[in-house]
Amino acid sequence: MSGDPLVLAIETSCDETSAAVLWGERELLGHVIFTQDIHTLYGGVVPELASRAHLRTVDDVVAGALREAGVGLEDVDVVGVTAGPGLIGALLVGVAWGKAAAWAAGKPVVGVHHMEGHLFATHLEHPGAEPPFVALLVSGGHTMLLWVPAWGEYKLLGGTRDDAAGEAFDKAAKILGLPYPGGPSIQRAAAEGDPTRHPLPRPLLNRGERLGDREYYDMSFSGLKNALRLLVRGLEGEGRLADEVPHVAASFQAAVVDVLVAKTMRGVREMRCPRVVLGGGVANSRALREALAQRLGEKGQLYAPSPRLSTDNAAMIARAALFRWQRGEVGGLELNARADLPFPGLTK
Ligand code: KG4
Ligand code: ZN
Repeated sequence: MSGDPLVLAIETSCDETSAAVLWGERELLGHVIFTQDIHTLYGGVVPELASRAHLRTVDDVVAGALREAGVGLEDVDVVGVTAGPGLIGALLVGVAWGKAAAWAAGKPVVGVHHMEGHLFATHLEHPGAEPPFVALLVSGGHTMLLWVPAWGEYKLLGGTRDDAAGEAFDKAAKILGLPYPGGPSIQRAAAEGDPTRHPLPRPLLNRGERLGDREYYDMSFSGLKNALRLLVRGLEGEGRLADEVPHVAASFQAAVVDVLVAKTMRGVREMRCPRVVLGGGVANSRALREALAQRLGEKGQLYAPSPRLSTDNAAMIARAALFRWQRGEVGGLELNARADLPFPGLTK
């Protein structure tokens, strides 16, 4: 294979074991995502079970991606692997595999920051998702509003002070007795619901925040979760919960979406840039996409990844690895997994 570089990437930071073969910036030759369904039994990810499941499947997942791409390890130019943040035991499986494969084949290895992967995911499908843009990264573990003047330069406008947006959906679903992962369950339930029936708070919003205040961009979802718990308890006491679940789900979804949209629009206004890129599992939220598209209007541009590339996957890791590798950032056997890996290029 000649011309563009060929990247093999591995992602094992949470409960998806995934491998991808990417040719150049956009040709996804092979992509396998194995979602560990064992966690649905527990209503959330159990770290030890996640590590063991990665160990059992990583060989087959990588072999599957290479087979689909019709290439061997010897054809690959660089191996990319998620080095953090994430569950340490889970990350270690991918990092050890990536380093061993790279060493055996005499190829360089690049450690990738999981959230930089989510940031690059949209670019795999939409060439227009190029900086400068405002990025909203919303996953099960992170919520970040970024200003991205160029790839590799990230200014953190705001983030969550407690629960991540996806985590808020997951916990809310649990409170409502809906299955994990919570975002899709809440979306399904909310489809039949009235989002105005149960007024819920919009934390850190509309309290006269000004540019320069931390509250202007920061988010908080744990108080909202408690308000939901109280509401559900009250409805349960009155024996009305079963009938109200769709309305409660719709009201909760609307509260989270209102906060995310308002904070993102503040970024758009401050940066005078009507281009927004979404990343992470919550980017799947239809309510979020519709509300943002509407607020951005005809002059704005909203880019969001397709469902397969919005939740955890190795294709986005391959794309971010390509970027880092092209900048000469190659690691070696000293590469290690870090549960709290700092975001490269991030300033506050
Ligand atoms: O990015 P991701 O796959 O994993 C992490 O890196 O954490 O995101 C998973 C999160 C879960 O919290 C899930 O509830 C949420 O994304 N999610 C959604 C939707 N689909 C997935 N949240 C809201 N609405 C959705 N439609
Ligand atoms: Zn993720």
